[in-house]
Amino acid sequence: MPIIVKSREEIAIMREAGKIVGGTLQLLVDLLRPGLVEKELDEVVRKEFKKRDVIPTFLGYHGYPATVCVSINDEIVHGIPGDREIMDGDVVSIDLGCTYKGFVADAALTAGVGDVSPEAQKLIDATKEAVWLGIRAARGGSRVGEIGHAIQTYAEGKGYSVVREYVGHGVGREMHEDPQIPNYGSRESGPVLRPGMVIAIEPMVNIGGWRTKRDSDNWTVRTADRSLSAHFEHTLAITDEEPEVLTLP
Ligand code: MF3
Ligand code: CO
Repeated sequence: MPIIVKSREEIAIMREAGKIVGGTLQLLVDLLRPGLVEKELDEVVRKEFKKRDVIPTFLGYHGYPATVCVSINDEIVHGIPGDREIMDGDVVSIDLGCTYKGFVADAALTAGVGDVSPEAQKLIDATKEAVWLGIRAARGGSRVGEIGHAIQTYAEGKGYSVVREYVGHGVGREMHEDPQIPNYGSRESGPVLRPGMVIAIEPMVNIGGWRTKRDSDNWTVRTADRSLSAHFEHTLAITDEEPEVLTLP
């Protein structure tokens, strides 16, 4: 599939989609507390999206059964919100997407609940810093490889590893468009970023090794060594200068 450059009008729509995703994610983080049942987050998204007349992009995507992904501790991404209660000290990653007027926005964040360990908090802070370093590297005229290079150099410099098997992506009418946006690799790799491209940058950073394994539910991805993992994601539009982050609250 070719890379699809968006018009100003299309980016204006994606800006609205992004605000809804960013705002709803913030709402979900504010609800996090020990004792909250994961499913309650899915229920809040369903209500919120209905109210705003937007489509939950994840629901039904390759058969995914919920509107949001909730991945805890050694779970990296794609956890299905179920009957599990969130516990004090948990590291909770929430990933959310919506479709508004035919365009998608996709974002994720990780938060510690209650009394989190200093190691966990450091991982969360570093992963958030990593996504912003990637965003700052995403300039019109630069190659996609600059993003992964910035993220990998920073994360590995802290002694962490970055997940290889899952990567960021172009975003538009489809949640996953070209190009792929790896969180690792050489600066000289990948296509050149052009104004009007919209991409999702989403580093997944592990305390241990980068290898992953999938649960028997065929969705939940966790670290192979069971180490803690954090995930941040924003959808952004490439410009001639700093990119415009679309999924802020
Ligand atoms: N937000 C994820 C991504 O960035 C996709 C979620 S997978 C789904 O690729 F099945 F839940 F939709
Ligand atoms: Co994504």
